Amino acid sequence: MMKILVVGGGGREHAIAVALSRTSETEIYSVMARKNPGIARLAKKVCLVSETDIDRIVAFAKETGVTHAFIGPEAPLEAGVVDRLSAAGVACVGPTKAAARIETDKAFCRDLMTHHHIGGNPAYRVFHDTADAIAFVKDHDGDLAIKPIGLTGGKGVRIMGEQVDLAGAIDYIHQIKGEVVLEERLKGEEFTLQAFVDGFHIVPMPLVQDHKRAFDGDTGPNTGGMGSYSMPDHMLPFVSGKDRTAALSIMASVVAAMAKDGIPYKGVLYGQFMNTSEGPKVIEFNARFGDPEAMNVLTLLSSDLCDVVTGITEGTLSAAKVTFEHAATVCKYLVPEGYPAAPKTGRPLDLGKTGDALLYYANVDERDGRLFTLTSRTLAFVGKADTLAAAERIAEHAASAVKGSVHHRHDIGTQALLDRRIAHMKEL
Ligand code: AMP
Ligand code: GLY
Repeated sequence: MMKILVVGGGGREHAIAVALSRTSETEIYSVMARKNPGIARLAKKVCLVSETDIDRIVAFAKETGVTHAFIGPEAPLEAGVVDRLSAAGVACVGPTKAAARIETDKAFCRDLMTHHHIGGNPAYRVFHDTADAIAFVKDHDGDLAIKPIGLTGGKGVRIMGEQVDLAGAIDYIHQIKGEVVLEERLKGEEFTLQAFVDGFHIVPMPLVQDHKRAFDGDTGPNTGGMGSYSMPDHMLPFVSGKDRTAALSIMASVVAAMAKDGIPYKGVLYGQFMNTSEGPKVIEFNARFGDPEAMNVLTLLSSDLCDVVTGITEGTLSAAKVTFEHAATVCKYLVPEGYPAAPKTGRPLDLGKTGDALLYYANVDERDGRLFTLTSRTLAFVGKADTLAAAERIAEHAASAVKGSVHHRHDIGTQALLDRRIAHMKEL
């Protein structure tokens, strides 16, 4: 039997807990900042504490006698949860604080790729001084992506020509005090490639596309991700076999480089790529599953996640033993009205008929058997079927049936949106 601690309380961690509990031989324990009703129902015991309170997390791990831990979000990784749990004898899925810098330090990531001659970097420069960064922006011909060096909860990037003009860019650099990576603005279609990594071996998962913008037609502000889809062949129609191989090879090179530098990477490595006219370029790496992308791939995982956990922690990961169903998935997040700027919190929600959809709880309050919105993404519905259209109908049906001050994107996983992606890629 595996006694495993799941750290985190979002939709992603609910999906991790569901996948771990598919085998009867697991006992799940949970650390989360507030009670996620879905995780709470699966866990033997729950500890409600800040996900960066490492002392309390380690104490709970010792008290419960867990042998393994699966870290969902990036904040505890940055706070060193893996270093401390490992020292206490708990085998972790998730990188050490040093290895998590691949996500938590955008300059570290770019420089690592440069020093090891790994392709896929856009042109970039790292700054630690406001005046220098501003002088560069003023001088530069063409649009830039402006990235704070540190963690921002996934909402920190500003793209010139999209969200800000030159004056806005300068303002933003002032706000973040000149600690910034300035990058060439990449043009293309985004895709996500996630992989399990045991320090040396890398096992890829199906490709997924996330949707950052709040409203249909990719309009409105950037969010944590409104939903995502994957295809039965584990590819995307605007990503060729050659593109996928190139992306995976970049990730494998990063893993090899980190091992060589003495900071081996263990856990889930998330690659976000822009498929450009010159092939895939790295937008960023995350040191964990994506949210919502975890929902797509974990719904498809047909081998045992506990075996993956031991493969990662013992360094014996093998692609031959990790299998995914050949089905399409569509994930749609319900979010509070006004999210992300001014979410309407504390509003009651009534689930309708969910049909065949899987339901993953995220940032939602359950009181006296009723659900209420909080500030972030509320509930995720996942449809799985032989075709994208059928998977979309399942997710859409369940999301539309919910009554309350929430909304979701109707276009995620539709053929119309897919056709636009394909046409966009052909234009480049
Ligand atoms: P993040 O806030 O880190 O999740 O990034 C938000 C979004 O910024 C990404 O999903 C991309 O759409 C965009 N982005 C980041 N870097 C670049 C870049 N160099 N060129 C174009 N878009 C980018
Ligand atoms: N879906 C993007 C992220 O998890 O950062």
